[in-house]
Amino acid sequence: MEPSVTRRKFVQAMGVGAGSAAGLAPLAAQASDGPKEAVKIVAVACSPRPGKTTAQALGICLEAAKAVDPQRIETELIDLAEMEIPAYLAAGIPLKPGDQDDFPDVAEKLSDRNVMAIVVGSPVYFRSPTALCKAFIDRCFALRRGRFALSDKVGGAVAVGGARNGGQELTLQVIQSAMMCQEMIIVGDGRPTAHAGASVWNIGNDDISGDEIGVATLKNLGRRVAEVALKREPSDA
Ligand SMILES: Cc1cc2nc3c(=O)[nH]c(=O)nc-3n(C[C@H](O)[C@H](O)[C@H](O)COP(=O)(O)O)c2cc1C
Repeated sequence: MEPSVTRRKFVQAMGVGAGSAAGLAPLAAQASDGPKEAVKIVAVACSPRPGKTTAQALGICLEAAKAVDPQRIETELIDLAEMEIPAYLAAGIPLKPGDQDDFPDVAEKLSDRNVMAIVVGSPVYFRSPTALCKAFIDRCFALRRGRFALSDKVGGAVAVGGARNGGQELTLQVIQSAMMCQEMIIVGDGRPTAHAGASVWNIGNDDISGDEIGVATLKNLGRRVAEVALKREPSDA
C-alpha cells in the first residue's frame, strides 16, 4: 500500500469512469512537461457598496494568493455591487420587463476551466450573508444543474462585520455550505490562524486595516487557496 493515495489515484484504482470524475484532468495533461497553464483565482464581493470593506478584504486575500506563485497565478476581483443579479430567476421565473440580469457574464468567468479557486466575500447583515450574496449563491444553481461546472474548484469564504463577533462565523458557514452543494473543495484560512476562513472586523470608518487578526486570516486564506489551487489541473468539467 502506498503511503499517500491521491484522489486521482484512488479514482483510478476504483475504476470510476470519466463521468463520475468529471472535475479531474486527464492523466496525460498531468504528465505533460510543457509550460504549465495559468491558475486563475477569482474573488466575488457581495456587498451592495462598491469598493468598500468586503472588496478591500478580498483584495488583501488575492494579493496573498498571487504571492504564492506570481508567475502562474492570475487573480480577478468581481464586485457585484453595481450589477443586477435577480434572485427570482433561480426559481425559473422569467426576467421581468425592465429588469436587467448581469449574472451570465459572472457565470461565464467562474466556469472558465482555468479558474481553479473562487473566494466569496460578504458583509455580515444580521449575522448572515447579504441578500446580494444569497442571490448570487442561488443563481449559481444554474452552474450546478446537470453539469456541476464548479466541481473540484477550491472554495474560500470571507466575512466582514461591523462588530468583532457580529456573525462572521455563521456568514462563512452559509457560503461554505453552498460551496459544498457545488462539489467545491472548501479550504479555511491556513496556518497559523487555521480556522474557518477570513473573519474580518470593520473597526469603523470602513477601515479594516487595523484589524490585525482579521487581516492575518485574509492573508492565510489567500495563501491556502492558492496552495491547493496549484495542486489542481485545469479541466473541462
Ligand atoms: C443592514 C445591515 C445589517 C448589518 N448587520 C450586521 C451584523 O449583524 N453584524 C455585524 O457585525 N455587522 C453588521 N453590519 C455591518 C456591516 O457588516 C459592516 O459595516 C461591513 O463592513 C459592511 O461591508 P461593506 O463595507 O463591504 O459594505 C450590518 C450592516 C447593515 C447595513
